[in-house]
Amino acid sequence: MTKLQAEVRSNSVAKGKDAMVTEDELDNLAYLKAVVKETLRLHMPAPLLVPHLSMADCDIEGYTIPSGTRTIINAWALARDPSYWENAEEFMPERFMDGGSAAAIDYKGSDFLLLPFGTGRRICPGITFAISTIEIMLANLVYLFNWELPVELAEKGIDMTESFGVTVHRAEKLLLVPIVPQD
Ligand code: HEM
Repeated sequence: MTKLQAEVRSNSVAKGKDAMVTEDELDNLAYLKAVVKETLRLHMPAPLLVPHLSMADCDIEGYTIPSGTRTIINAWALARDPSYWENAEEFMPERFMDGGSAAAIDYKGSDFLLLPFGTGRRICPGITFAISTIEIMLANLVYLFNWELPVELAEKGIDMTESFGVTVHRAEKLLLVPIVPQD
């Protein structure tokens, strides 16, 4: 959070107390973009995408998939495969920044290691809308406030347990206390 705030606050043109980060400033926020991408790698909302039906027989590395087979892609496993990702279980946004081990990977599904939006002809058409909405929201949340855990949760830390379904989300609500920075 400290690193993200340093980037957002130093890049945002100060416009007084009630200023907010605007969409045209997002292009300068490389670390913010990497944070969102790394979050979608580790915690994608639809880890098994949606089921697809194969339209023709095909052969994948010796396995025959007959036409009409319901297929489920485990994008979660691809995104955490330790043979392809450096420190796969660690939250390391830097991997997606210039010079990082995954700098070339985008959301367009051309690299099967990162498929939070699926791939191919049925890829999510809302990618740009989703990403810009998340980025502008996160940028402003960290620009305007410092965030702390409530006293009763400070020792336990954040509970990252997830509730499983077609879409996955945190099992417990995220409770945070916003602090208005004094400087
Ligand atoms: C973080 C946010 C989002 C994520 C992670 C996400 C993820 C996905 C995934 C995994 C699929 C299935 C791709 C496949 O068939 O393999 C999908 C499909 C779809 N998404 Fe999203 N989505 C997001 C936001 C949005 C938004 C904001 C919109 C619309 C404004 C949207 C509209 C759609 C539609 C219409 C489909 C069905 C496309 C088709 O079957 O041809 N999504 N999305």
